[in-house]
Amino acid sequence: MPVSSRQAAYLDALGVTRYARRAAPSAASTAREVPASQAPAVVAVPRPVAPVQDVTETPATDPAAAWPALHAQIAACTACGLSRTRTHTVPGVGDRQADWMVIGEAPGAEEDARGEPFVGPAGKLLDAMLHAVGRSRRRGVYITNIVKCRPPNNRDPAPQEAQACAGFLQRQIALVEPKLILAVGKVAAHNLLGRDDPVGRLRGQVWQWQGRVPVVVTYHPAYLLRSPLEKRKVWDDLCLAQDVLERSAG
Ligand code: URA
Repeated sequence: MPVSSRQAAYLDALGVTRYARRAAPSAASTAREVPASQAPAVVAVPRPVAPVQDVTETPATDPAAAWPALHAQIAACTACGLSRTRTHTVPGVGDRQADWMVIGEAPGAEEDARGEPFVGPAGKLLDAMLHAVGRSRRRGVYITNIVKCRPPNNRDPAPQEAQACAGFLQRQIALVEPKLILAVGKVAAHNLLGRDDPVGRLRGQVWQWQGRVPVVVTYHPAYLLRSPLEKRKVWDDLCLAQDVLERSAG
C-alpha cells in the first residue's frame, strides 16, 4: 500500500529513508492513521502527582497575571539541589491556549543556557515532528519538562527533584488546559502516569493524567537521534494524539 503523502513528508523531514510501508490515511483526515475502530480505549487512571511546592493560585481567570507569577516562582525556586547548579530556570514555551502540551524530562545544556526547552538537536527534531502534524511551538503546542532546572551531566531527574517541581507542572496544566498531553520519553511518561514500564509498552495506548487529561506516550527525540528507524513509530503516536483530539471534539 502506498505511503501517505503526509507520512512521507514527515519521514523525509526527519531523514528516514528506509521505512515500512503503511496505509494511506482516510480522506477525512490527512493527519490520522489510526482508524477510530482501532484506536485503543483509555486504559489507566494514573497515580496523582502530589504537589510539594506551594504554587500560589493566581486566579486562572487572569492568565496575564498568572503566567508571570508562575515564572517568577519557578525562577526563585530552591526546593531541590538542581537550583544550585542551574544557569537559568526553563519553565516552558509556546502557545498558552494550546490543545496539546508536550512534556519532556529536563533541560539540557543548551536549554539551561537559553532558558527555553528543547532548543538543542533533540528540540530541532521535536519541531520537525510537530511541523509534520501542522503544529509548532507558536501554534497549537505548549512545551515544558517534568523539571525546570538542568540535572548535572544530563542525568535523569531524581524522583524527589521531579516531586519538588510537580506543583509547577500542575499549575501549567491548569493554566493551559490542554486537551491532550504528549509525554516524550520515559521520564515524562513515568512521572505523569506513575508507572515504570518501558516506553515501548506505554505507547500506542491512551492514558489519563489525573483522570482528566488524555496522555499519549512516545519516544524522546534524543532517543530518535540515536535510533532513527524508530521515527516511523512516532508518526503513529502523533496520529493517535490527533485522533484523540478529533474524537474529543465529537
Ligand atoms: N530534553 C528534554 O527532555 N527537554 C528539553 O528541554 C531538552 C532536551
